[in-house]
Amino acid sequence: MVARSRHRMMIRMTAPKGMKKGLTSYGDAEFSLFLRKAFVKAMGLSDDALARPIVGVANTFSDYNACHGNVPQIVAAIKRGVMLAGGLPMEFPTISIHESFAHPTSMFLRNLMAMDTEEMIRAQPMDAVVLVGGCDKTIPAQMMAAASADLPAVVVPVGPMLVGHHRGETLGACTDCRRLWSDFRGGRIDAAEIEAVNARLAPTPGTCMVMGTASTMACIAEAMGLALPTAASIPATHADRLRSAEASGKAAVAMAERGGLLPSEVMARAAFRNALIVLQAIGGSTNALIHLTAAAGRLGIAIDLDEVDALGREVPVLVDLKPSGRHYMEHFHWAGGVPRLLHELRDLLDLGTRDVAGTTLGERLAQVNTRDAQDVIRPRADPVSAGGSMAVLRGNLAPRGAIVKQSAATPRLLQHTGRAVVFDSLDDLAARIDAPDLDVTADDVLVLRNAGPLGAPGMPEAGYLPIPKKLAKEGVKDMVRISDARMSGTAFGAIVLHVTPEAALGGPLALVRDGDQIRLDVAGRRIDALVDDAELARRRAAFDTGGARGAAPAPERGYAALFHRSVLQADEGCDFDFLVPGRSLP
Ligand code: FES
Repeated sequence: MVARSRHRMMIRMTAPKGMKKGLTSYGDAEFSLFLRKAFVKAMGLSDDALARPIVGVANTFSDYNACHGNVPQIVAAIKRGVMLAGGLPMEFPTISIHESFAHPTSMFLRNLMAMDTEEMIRAQPMDAVVLVGGCDKTIPAQMMAAASADLPAVVVPVGPMLVGHHRGETLGACTDCRRLWSDFRGGRIDAAEIEAVNARLAPTPGTCMVMGTASTMACIAEAMGLALPTAASIPATHADRLRSAEASGKAAVAMAERGGLLPSEVMARAAFRNALIVLQAIGGSTNALIHLTAAAGRLGIAIDLDEVDALGREVPVLVDLKPSGRHYMEHFHWAGGVPRLLHELRDLLDLGTRDVAGTTLGERLAQVNTRDAQDVIRPRADPVSAGGSMAVLRGNLAPRGAIVKQSAATPRLLQHTGRAVVFDSLDDLAARIDAPDLDVTADDVLVLRNAGPLGAPGMPEAGYLPIPKKLAKEGVKDMVRISDARMSGTAFGAIVLHVTPEAALGGPLALVRDGDQIRLDVAGRRIDALVDDAELARRRAAFDTGGARGAAPAPERGYAALFHRSVLQADEGCDFDFLVPGRSLP
């Protein structure tokens, strides 16, 4: 181990640096450097500037990404920090993905952003990189890219939005978007009010201010040591956000000079375990499990669903944020944010993991102020939910696992048996869910299939199936819902997700029929169709002949075809097989 790290250090010391790194291939290295410098000097850079450590700054600003509206200010602050520390910042663009502006889904494009970011880090001369991310899939894509490129990297989240206000109520994107839309569907608020609410749910730039996927992944990046302390929670519009960005630029120069730590050293196996503990304690998004699996997979680390479930039984939800609790990200920040949460969890964590500055978690936690009164980060003795946030289910419907976010579900529905009402696809769901003649009651189980990585494609956040309008009007707010889709981290309900393998691949969800009895047993960690094996075998034979009714056809060209050929299932992080070490090319 010591010999290997010494060998790595030697490589770092002797590898080309700055402008000499990754020269364009012309067959004459000196000419390549000569030419590169000739072009870069067109921007007015001096030889002094070009001799400095180079810090790449990945700019993810886009007019299509409102969550990243503050990126220009953040990039300017990072560049200031780099220059104050004696480095040369080099800003470059990458793909930017916003949840609501990505067709068919942002998840469909996450791997493309990861590939773009990885290849731009590799292709361009830089000694360290600062990755500015935020909206749901961006930080996961950047973590995957950093793991594969393995160049010193600091993550700078754009930060959460401030809360909105409406008629004396605090509002936030997008837990309240879903709640109020349900109220509108149920006739409890009218069209004029829902229009007014629409302008108040996302009142500033920044990411959704509940514990959705963006907040979850920012907290995880900080907990793992990829981002500076409190970087996950400083509000997007606060001056501290820019000071944190400046400090991140300085940190990147120090990493460029030292040649580390590398992402593969920061994202060690123990850091992933710490991340899973944090994921449970924050009541985090189920999506994070897929993203962590993908980032870990890039480093040859497997995330074990049984360990995830065991941690779910051991680690209580401590952070009182929507959708599992009451507050919003700005309240979490002023309560002490991730550092204070980690302090509360310290006996469960591996304190030897190191952050981008090389500081151990134990050393970081020794600095945390825990004196100030607050009611957002609960003590272990008084958790928001003792049972943890997420449970892993298995059964005849999910041989390779499914997930339920029990902390955001109606408790009585966590043990439930009901009649299946099956939708074959998103189109089928849209066409029939509100039909007055749909045969459905509040005790039924809504099943959506062909909404997984391949079937949809892109595993949309469609697992939060709407309550059929006629039931919503009767006041029904939650039902058991099962799918091979994902769910927004901002959503809530008795919702079983990520059923693996998905229906389009012949997973058992493809065999369920209207009227089957489905049993959800969260305490027993089971999800089963109460159909005998002989009948399931008959249905399997029919499926094998007829194929997946409702699944999207295989695309013929472009990224969609690459995605279809290469995407892995949820339990492998939905990464592409050819990007994961040890997975052979098809
Ligand atoms: Fe960007 Fe929620 S839509 S973080």
